[in-house]
Amino acid sequence: MGFYNKYILPKIINAGCGTKPIRKQREKVLPLCKGIVLEIGCGSGLNFSFYEENNIDKLYALEPDKEMLRQAESVVKEVNFPITFLETGAEKIPLEDDSIDTALLTYTLCTIPDPLAALLEIRRVLKKGGKLVFCEHGMAPENNVKKMQNFINSFFLFVGGCNLNRDIPSLIKDAGFLVDNLETMYLPKTPKWFGYNYWGSAS
Ligand SMILES: C[S@@+](CC[C@H](N)C(=O)[O-])C[C@H]1O[C@@H](n2cnc3c(N)ncnc32)[C@H](O)[C@@H]1O
Repeated sequence: MGFYNKYILPKIINAGCGTKPIRKQREKVLPLCKGIVLEIGCGSGLNFSFYEENNIDKLYALEPDKEMLRQAESVVKEVNFPITFLETGAEKIPLEDDSIDTALLTYTLCTIPDPLAALLEIRRVLKKGGKLVFCEHGMAPENNVKKMQNFINSFFLFVGGCNLNRDIPSLIKDAGFLVDNLETMYLPKTPKWFGYNYWGSAS
């Protein structure tokens, strides 16, 4: 692991994902998680303190990046439910079919190299009646913002492989999910090209 990936990138990701508007988004979606939960791309564990502890039987926290995982492991003692870490990408999830009540995606679908493969895997492991809860940034509706996102995207990929211009609801639907709830907005105090958020649930 290079110096940049070990020391610089985690700081950039934590700063970008730890802003007040993003914390507000976490407050909206984390209470929707229940039962046996699979968090995809848990990063440094920024979501852990937002779970409603009484609703969680167990958390599987999946994360392929060793350094992010090391940071997430260091916040485990702050939560009161069992956590098992899975050091792997979401394109192949090491869990049984129909074994998860809730899968959570926050600010991760932008980064997963093969998001469709990951979503198909999430569908496989979700129980019948299980929910995918998501909050992601992605393609904005305005043409001038879209153009800016497409332009910046190739420069921005150095930030941990983050894509600015993914169409989040289409990806979720393409994997065979039915979107039950969907809300959108530009996050306040955030550049429009980075801040268009989609959040809700799908089954
Ligand atoms: C922008 S960070 C968001 C972290 C966390 N979900 C949050 O809300 O703070 C994106 C995360 O996706 C992870 N990631 C990258 N490729 C992945 C993959 N194939 N499967 C799952 N997660 C992946 C990265 O290592 C990183 O931790």
